[in-house]
Amino acid sequence: MSSQPLLPHQRTDLDRPITTKRKLILTTILIPILLIGGIIWVSIKGDGLPKDDLGLARYYLKGSPVIDGHIDLPEFARAFYGNNISAFDLNKPTKGHVDIPRIREGSLGAFFWSIFVECRDDNGQDFLNPTFQVRDTLEQIDVSFNLIEKYSDTFAFAATSDQVEVAIKEGKVASMFGLEGGHMLGNSLAVLRTYHKLGVRYMTLTHSCNNAFADSAGIFEGVEERWGGLSKFGRSLIPEMNRLGVIVDLSHVSDKTALQALALTRSPIMLSHSAARHFNNMSRNVPDEILAKIGRGKHQVDGVVMVNFFPVFASSKPEEVDVAYIADEIEYIVEKTGKHHVGIGSDYDGIESTPKGLEDVSKYPYLFAELIKRGWTEHELSLLAGGNFLRVFRGVEETSRKLQKDGWKPSQVIYEKRRDLDPIGWEL
Ligand SMILES: *[C@@H]1O[C@H](CO)[C@@H](O)[C@H](O)[C@H]1NC(C)=O
Ligand SMILES: *[C@@H]1O[C@H](CO)[C@@H](O)[C@H](O)[C@H]1NC(C)=O
Ligand SMILES: [Zn+2]
Repeated sequence: MSSQPLLPHQRTDLDRPITTKRKLILTTILIPILLIGGIIWVSIKGDGLPKDDLGLARYYLKGSPVIDGHIDLPEFARAFYGNNISAFDLNKPTKGHVDIPRIREGSLGAFFWSIFVECRDDNGQDFLNPTFQVRDTLEQIDVSFNLIEKYSDTFAFAATSDQVEVAIKEGKVASMFGLEGGHMLGNSLAVLRTYHKLGVRYMTLTHSCNNAFADSAGIFEGVEERWGGLSKFGRSLIPEMNRLGVIVDLSHVSDKTALQALALTRSPIMLSHSAARHFNNMSRNVPDEILAKIGRGKHQVDGVVMVNFFPVFASSKPEEVDVAYIADEIEYIVEKTGKHHVGIGSDYDGIESTPKGLEDVSKYPYLFAELIKRGWTEHELSLLAGGNFLRVFRGVEETSRKLQKDGWKPSQVIYEKRRDLDPIGWEL
């Protein structure tokens, strides 16, 4: 997206028919005068663009607002209010990092509502112990829909890249759903298909525990691997995500899982909220080895790395993390992948601390101002803000259409350790 006006200009008296003689006067006399006048005006008054970096950042973001890859507003509603949407008001300041006035101040134009429930280590050796995770996931989808509906002047549910663009053009905040962890599928591809029907458009293959599909990165240090990356069942999950058009999200997964998923996917991928391991050697952060696989060259996969703001991930000295530090991280990812593969995945409302100067969703313009100071162009900033993500999303949609046109049908694979689906028949 470029920074064109979102709405067409009003037509006025130009609609009236003009006689030939008046037309002649217009073209031979008036237009040259207007043109010369315009040139003089611009040279005296400037191009009308704000002269300070922050003003310019705000101006650019009006045309290409931020699309944030990961915001935990649904989890905020659950953790603080038990999902009772009558108990808090998004038009007033919340205890978290997100509310409507701050969304508008920060030019947040779209975001992924993170659908998240905790993974558990007591799912048993084979992850078969029954839990309430599928119920709780549906509750998080429900609370998201309820908030979007309650504040429908602001939010518009979006399940496709076109719907995101339309919502932004209409001045709405496009609202997409991303699932944070394969554990929420209850070991079932049928559940994935149903979540997709409910609007889920990305899934991190794991959260911070291993699951039936894949090994996780853990958080501060790795967890003991169970599968050595993807499980056999996980190898059936990726093609089904590609077929459906659910973006494969490699935040949170182990390095082996990420590398194997990159080798297997037919669609572009994303990291919805990851910091760079180069700055902080933590298993949760994305290493150079994986950044090297992301791109549009031979043996690379198209993708977008959306930078996490959590200071504890960004640095081993979290107190030093500020706007310039996050800009350094963005520029580092650009150095490794290019300007077409970077985005923003703040993790707001899901993190206990924030960088100095990026305290909440109202502050994105300060990050863009910092990058303007460093020479980023309007076009490059529009890629970072959301253009790169939209390209990835379109690529995923295109592959999904192609696979379905090629005759790919819903996968009938079931987790081989499940016995409850063994046919029993009936005695007739
Ligand atoms: C939900 O919140 C409203 C407003 O605070 C309160 O009146 C109501 O009792 C709450 N409902 C439940 C079930 O807690
Ligand atoms: C990063 O941490 C890993 C595991 O904790 C360790 O094996 C590796 O040597 C560390 N790398 C650097 C550059 O410190
Ligand atoms: Zn996360």
